[in-house]
Amino acid sequence: MTWLITGGAGFIGAHVVRAMVEDGRGVVVLDDLSTGDPARLPDGVPLVEGSTLDRALLDRVLKEHQVSGVLHIAAKKQVGESVEQPLRYYRENVEGLRVVLEAAAEAGVRRFLLSSSAAVYGMPDVDIVTEATPCAPMSPYGETKLIGEWLVRGVGRAHGMGTVALRYFNVAGAATAELGDPGVFNLVPMVFERIDEGLPPLVFGDDYPTPDGTCIRDYIHVADVATAHVAAVRRLEADPDGTELVLNIGRGAGVSVREMLAVIGRVTGRDTAAEVVSRRPGDPARVVASADLITRELGWTAEFSLEDMVSSAWAGWQVRHR
Ligand code: WQD
Repeated sequence: MTWLITGGAGFIGAHVVRAMVEDGRGVVVLDDLSTGDPARLPDGVPLVEGSTLDRALLDRVLKEHQVSGVLHIAAKKQVGESVEQPLRYYRENVEGLRVVLEAAAEAGVRRFLLSSSAAVYGMPDVDIVTEATPCAPMSPYGETKLIGEWLVRGVGRAHGMGTVALRYFNVAGAATAELGDPGVFNLVPMVFERIDEGLPPLVFGDDYPTPDGTCIRDYIHVADVATAHVAAVRRLEADPDGTELVLNIGRGAGVSVREMLAVIGRVTGRDTAAEVVSRRPGDPARVVASADLITRELGWTAEFSLEDMVSSAWAGWQVRHR
C-alpha cells in the first residue's frame, strides 16, 4: 500500500518520509515547495509539485499511486504570521485539509493522519498537559489546527476512515545535517543565529513563575516525531475501522530557556551568556506534555535527549546557514 505524504519535502515532513521509507513503506509526496526542498527526499521517492488546494491534482495522485492512506503534514506553521494573515492560514490549513479529505474520502482512502500542534492548548494552566486538557488556542494558527482535528474526526466517522491527530510539542534537532531546519523561528535556531553573529542570545522574560524565571517547554527530537508517525501508520494499517486518536508527541520533560542555553553552550562550545529582554506577548510560562497516551496506544516513546537535539541541530545549522 502507498501513503500520500503532503508537505513531505518540508523540515518535519522529510523526516517522516525518511522514517517511512526505512520502515519499508511505499510513499508519494505532494509539496508546493513554498518552504519544501526536493533535495531532502530520499532517492526514488516520487514528488508531485502542487498545492493541497488543487482537487484535480489530488484526484490524479490518489488514483495513479493507488493511495490507501494519507499523512497530511503540509501547513503554514508560524504563529505570529497567522495573526497578521488569518485568511491565508485558514485557506492553507483548513481549506487545504478539507480538499485533501474530500478527495481522499471519494477515492476510498480509509486511513488519515493529521499533523496537529500543542498550539491547540493555548495557555494551559496545568503542569502536565494531557489530551483531556481543554483546548483554547490563542492564534489563528492554533485555531486552524484544532478545527483541522474536528474536521478529520467528523470525516473519519462519516466515511469510515481511521484517523490519528498528532499534537507536536516543541520540535528540534535533525536526523542528518542535510535535513536540518532552515527556518529561524524557534528557540534553538534563534540562539544559533545570535551566537554565530557574535551576539548574546535573547531571553524573552525571566520573571515567569518558574524555578529560574524563564519559560518551560517540552522539546522533542524531530527523528522521534518521525517514528511516532510510523507507529501511528502501523496502527492505522492494523485497525483502520477502530482508530480515532488524538495524541501528544512530547517527552514529558520540562526544559527552561536557561537550561536550553546551558546545553547549547556545552554542545557548541560557545558563550551563551544571555541578554534578558521583555516577555514576548502570548508566551505561556509552562507547556509540558504527558506522553502517556501515545505510549499506551502506540507503544511509542521518545529516544533522543536534549543533547542529541542540540548537537544534531548544530550540525544542520552548519550545512544550511554557512
Ligand atoms: C520557546 C521558548 C520563548 C527564542 C512555537 C509555537 C508552537 C509550535 C512550536 C508549531 C519561549 C523563548 C525563544 C529566543 C527566547 N509551533 N525564546 N529567546 O513559542 O513554545 O512554540 O513553536 O506547531 O505552536 O507557538 O516555541 O521556540 O518560539 O519558544 O527566550 O530567542 O523560548 O519565549 O518561551 P514556542 P519557541
